[in-house]
Amino acid sequence: MSRTPLIAGNWKMYKTIPEALALVKALLPHLPKDREVAVAPPFTALYSVASCIKGTALKLAAQNVFWEREGAYTGEISPLMLKDVGCEYVIIGHSERRQYFGEVDKTVTKKVNSVLEEGLKPILCVGERLEEREKGETFEIVKKQLIGGLGNIQEIQKIVIAYEPVWAIGTGKTASPAQAQEVHKYLRHLVEEKWGRENSEKIRILYGGSVKPENIDELMQEEDIDGALVGGASLKAETFVKIMNYGV
Ligand code: G3P
Repeated sequence: MSRTPLIAGNWKMYKTIPEALALVKALLPHLPKDREVAVAPPFTALYSVASCIKGTALKLAAQNVFWEREGAYTGEISPLMLKDVGCEYVIIGHSERRQYFGEVDKTVTKKVNSVLEEGLKPILCVGERLEEREKGETFEIVKKQLIGGLGNIQEIQKIVIAYEPVWAIGTGKTASPAQAQEVHKYLRHLVEEKWGRENSEKIRILYGGSVKPENIDELMQEEDIDGALVGGASLKAETFVKIMNYGV
């Protein structure tokens, strides 16, 4: 089963509008043809980046969303608004949202459903903390986050899963390709159990956690790794261009 790889850059809370525009302009001439590339700028730069990448193959993602379409929810951004600005993907349940902003599987499910209703594609993040890995709880944790986060959704084919072990995020400590593959294979198996073989073969599972030009090639050689969700190394054109053109 061939799955189109997706390389997505999560810029987190970095980049002013001029910085964001400079970065995407530097990426555009180097977009690979046989894979998808997306960037997730902060909300404040979405419109400017969307205008700049219009008509190109670069895709736009948001880093978070609220689950209502509109209403009196001061400070929130809805799926409708993300669609309006030109997003195709929305990152949901990132470990930083879980850690600092109280995101739990129940709110993840609401977000996943509302994003799907608007015709956008969720990138659902799952991943264990170091102490959980050390206690041998990795599978249990990612199962809880995946099944708990997706609930009983029908449109599984629109979902992208991102496995991001928390201990590998921003630490420079990448999961080895074998460690990542083991969890990716398990996640695919969970999708097969609940949504069937065909869906499990089609679903893309990205790896995230200290991805850099030096380790992307070996990660992408693993059977169940279909792309990467890149943090720090997506903030510089030089490194992100190398990552999106892995294997070339
Ligand atoms: O969502 C991407 C992420 O959390 C990984 O960050 O900086 O380790 O590549 P980083």
